[in-house]
Amino acid sequence: MCPDDSAIRTRTREDYDVLTKRRVQLVDFEPCEGGFLRDVLDGLGQTPKTLPCKYFYDERGSRLFDAICELDEYYLTRTEIAIMRDNGRAIGRAIGPGCCLVEFGSGSSVKTRLLLDHLDDPVACILIDISRKHLLESAAELADQYPDLQVIAVCADFASNCELPCPRRAAARRAVYFPGSTIGNFRPADAEQLLRRIARIVGRGGGLLIGADLKKDRETLERAYNDRAGVTSAFNLNLLHRINRELGADFDLDAFRHRATYNAAHGRIESHLVSRRAQTVRLNGSVFRFERGETIHTESSHKYSLDGFRALADRAGFDVQDVWTDERGLFSVQYLTTR
Ligand code: AVJ
Repeated sequence: MCPDDSAIRTRTREDYDVLTKRRVQLVDFEPCEGGFLRDVLDGLGQTPKTLPCKYFYDERGSRLFDAICELDEYYLTRTEIAIMRDNGRAIGRAIGPGCCLVEFGSGSSVKTRLLLDHLDDPVACILIDISRKHLLESAAELADQYPDLQVIAVCADFASNCELPCPRRAAARRAVYFPGSTIGNFRPADAEQLLRRIARIVGRGGGLLIGADLKKDRETLERAYNDRAGVTSAFNLNLLHRINRELGADFDLDAFRHRATYNAAHGRIESHLVSRRAQTVRLNGSVFRFERGETIHTESSHKYSLDGFRALADRAGFDVQDVWTDERGLFSVQYLTTR
């Protein structure tokens, strides 16, 4: 079941240094190669036009997202970190000793550390991320900070099926850590499917520690996704920039603007790129026409009630063991176990 060394490939001189000198193993499934063009052509060909939000995270996109996490308006990251800090011991106890931790999306290492510091004798940490550079940086940092921990980086789209490597030391249980409310990017049916796959990955006796953003007033939500400094706008527009650079499209970035609105009926923030004028965009021999005001839907960020999330977990085969929230009830960190 474990991929052998032939699956371990190095890319650049820098990657090589990370892997050899800094005690990180890489299993590379080469996500998005080929898929990017296909997904973009497919999304722009639909009515209404869409693009998958997973492509936000190239190197620049990952940096811009880090900047979003620092914004006053973007309460999510700060609140989740506070919850982790305030409840670290209880969280560590819930997960239990000797676990193999599997992190979905190697986001901010701050949260991972807050978790690892409260785990009793973790055997390994497997980081899964679609952005190779970001992944290797996080993994190397972690390996430096936890000299006794086996750190394995898996470059893959965690929403696809990929086989996980086995740590050297046998684990008492597997726990997936899925922070950041990234689950919110999935439509309810897809979220259910993803949770079901996680349930299969961790097996019986395993668990899922997950961050889920909570429903709240429209103003707070819309402010979080339309910051005054324009970082979220740059983050959204970077997707077009990436399509130009990597796929040779001719998007005029000045001809689109960012807009995020809360759709209360669906309980989600919808992020769009709005065409400022009628225009055409060329990509790979195809021509895409935009009306003035027409949008590309680039992301949905679903917000949950505690009851709604419990129902989702239940449909996927999980029981909610523990829920930790901040005092204002903005965000939740939940520990789910398989039954
Ligand atoms: C990383 C998916 C949780 O939806 O809040 C931040 C991404 N988009 N600002 C979110 C994002 C715009 C973020 N997630």
